[in-house]
Amino acid sequence: MSILVLGGAGYIGSHTALELVRRGESVVIADNLSTGHIEAVPKGAKFYEGDLHDRTFLDGIFENESIDAIIHFAAYSLVGESVTNPLKYYDNNLCGTKVLLDSMVGHKIGNIVFSSTAATYGEPENIPILETDRTLPTNPYGETKLAMEKMFYWAAKAHGFRYVSLRYFNACGADKSGEIGEAHSPESHLIPLILQVPNGQREAISIFGTDYDTPDGTCIRDYIHVTDLANAHILAVKYLRDGNKSDVFNLGNGVGYSVREVIEVARKVTGHPIPAVESPRRAGDPARLVASSEKAREVLGWDPTHDSLEEIIADAWNWHKNHPNGFKK
Ligand code: UFG
Repeated sequence: MSILVLGGAGYIGSHTALELVRRGESVVIADNLSTGHIEAVPKGAKFYEGDLHDRTFLDGIFENESIDAIIHFAAYSLVGESVTNPLKYYDNNLCGTKVLLDSMVGHKIGNIVFSSTAATYGEPENIPILETDRTLPTNPYGETKLAMEKMFYWAAKAHGFRYVSLRYFNACGADKSGEIGEAHSPESHLIPLILQVPNGQREAISIFGTDYDTPDGTCIRDYIHVTDLANAHILAVKYLRDGNKSDVFNLGNGVGYSVREVIEVARKVTGHPIPAVESPRRAGDPARLVASSEKAREVLGWDPTHDSLEEIIADAWNWHKNHPNGFKK
């Protein structure tokens, strides 16, 4: 049986597909390449180019391949863009996923794992955040992901499939091979932006807000290595294949680092002074987001092993210094 990885040419999707291939799984990737990269598709995976909204395209995959599980990464994920262009997010993340569910139900596929986010919580009430905590997104990106979770809940109840929703905290790092890594355009994430400074593509990194109620005044995040995230998806597929019930899991390390701490570790890893400029807050940033991932550890048996920030940034640097323009030659 094969696993269909939707969005498998994107950042987290390609790292997951690569880990699956390494473990000898039969992998089919579908991606419309709107933000993904064909170069990120691992050798050994079968590739289909097409869009989530295209029912005929999806039906064709289910008819040609023996798929028993889907991992769904095909979504837009820029918080800022979701505020200025919310309908783009509703259209892709919800309408596209609805077409997928129709096709999946029509072909009696029983298992699906999909990407959710810490943005479903909004401004957290407690740290570390538990899966049972209040979900109150503060932007359309988080709203569409929460609505996706609810769509899966009701559709699974009605049609008898099972799902796992994985709420990621801050995905970062790159595969140890240095062959694939993060390549967003435009880039908005902290670690790749910091590394543009030693790569000679940026003069300095801006620190968005220095007056938060945190020990050094800058925002605290839970940074999780993309290979650890990939492993969580593989465990979630196993969990569903073993017949377990639908559920939602946080994925983070449970340790928070401030923006200043991340910059300091990047200075150490790269040996570059990386100047920082104190700037105003970015709208919609919660002061602290740190996961409790106890549930994923206990239920899925997840054990993130690349959990030192130094290792995460070293792996990211290994990718970015050799691919300053991402996958572009
Ligand atoms: N930051 C800076 N300077 C920059 C870029 C970011 O100071 O140039 C700060 C941000 O303000 C934030 C932290 O670095 O405090 C991390 O920012 P990222 O943009 O890297 O990540 P976010 O925490 O904003 O976003 C992540 C995921 C989203 C998810 C969100 C949940 O990437 O998909 O967490 O809130 F929605």
